[in-house]
Amino acid sequence: MEIKEIKTESLNVKSFIQKKTKEIAAMVSSGSAVNALSGGVDSSVVTMLGHKALGDRLKTYFVDNGIMRAGEPKKVVMLFRDLGVPLEVIDSRAQFFDALKGVADPEEKREAITRVFYKEVFGELVRKSGSKYLLQGTNYTDVEETVAGIKRQHNILEQLGINPQEEYGYKVIEPLVQLRKSGVREVGRALGLPEVMYNRPPFPGPALAARVIGEVTPEKIEIVREATEIVEGELSKTRAFQYLAILHQDRVTGIREGKRDYGLQIEIRCWESKDAREGLPTRLPYDVLEKLAESITDKVPRVVSVTYNITRKPPSTIEAI
Ligand code: XMP
Repeated sequence: MEIKEIKTESLNVKSFIQKKTKEIAAMVSSGSAVNALSGGVDSSVVTMLGHKALGDRLKTYFVDNGIMRAGEPKKVVMLFRDLGVPLEVIDSRAQFFDALKGVADPEEKREAITRVFYKEVFGELVRKSGSKYLLQGTNYTDVEETVAGIKRQHNILEQLGINPQEEYGYKVIEPLVQLRKSGVREVGRALGLPEVMYNRPPFPGPALAARVIGEVTPEKIEIVREATEIVEGELSKTRAFQYLAILHQDRVTGIREGKRDYGLQIEIRCWESKDAREGLPTRLPYDVLEKLAESITDKVPRVVSVTYNITRKPPSTIEAI
């Protein structure tokens, strides 16, 4: 790869921040930049970095794509307002669900999300604001996996032959692209992000759409969102690298109130990992698994089966699509 990795062990956080703020300020010059904040670790860190470099000339947008976790838009907006970073919420739920209609293939789903995000939503925001740059939190692992052909990460453009200037009308600035997740967290801590943000488990750009097998609909997203809330509530105590719920497409026969119920299946995954390149399933206590199965089948409509994935990455990947 052309990009040179900065290993977390050799990262000098202070000089990295100085260098990157200077670079951002020099690139944007007297203009402004648009910033895509999703509330994940990488985009939160890039927001702080961009704010430090550009102040009010950074226009931060939080795009509500309809596929986020429960309460997420409100939580992220409040947190960044408390940190003194001005931001605007853009409601793009209908656009994302329209683009995902009828799409079942994992890479096509990822492609649809990329297209709506960069072309439709940010294309328009950049045009309206008169900015020439989009700031985003791509990291080294995102690029590596896309280049290796494992999966197309939602935020990778140039490595897939997409020239953002030609396709969407703006340049992309990626200050974190040499860092792994652990390095990004250190930069976030030094920039004054609260620990709940810089130590947040990773969450994918394609959000809950990466956790629905087959076509994504608002109804399926609601089911996986409820299961995710239960899984995160229970498993955050484990301090595992990442934990998630997946909604399967196949249904199975179950019983509800003494009657046959051809219901839905949720799969739980919980990962031990350093940087998402490799992963081991956490050896969760059996009573935790039982509790999860009970809460999910009790509280999430139509779910009659809950499984736990015990496969390593590789050959598995962390997300389901
Ligand atoms: P996989 O599923 O490839 O995930 O083992 C590796 C790590 O990357 C996250 N992930 C993404 N992050 N855009 C992102 O910003 C994406 O398109 C994307 N897909 C996966 C995943 O949650 C895990 O931490």
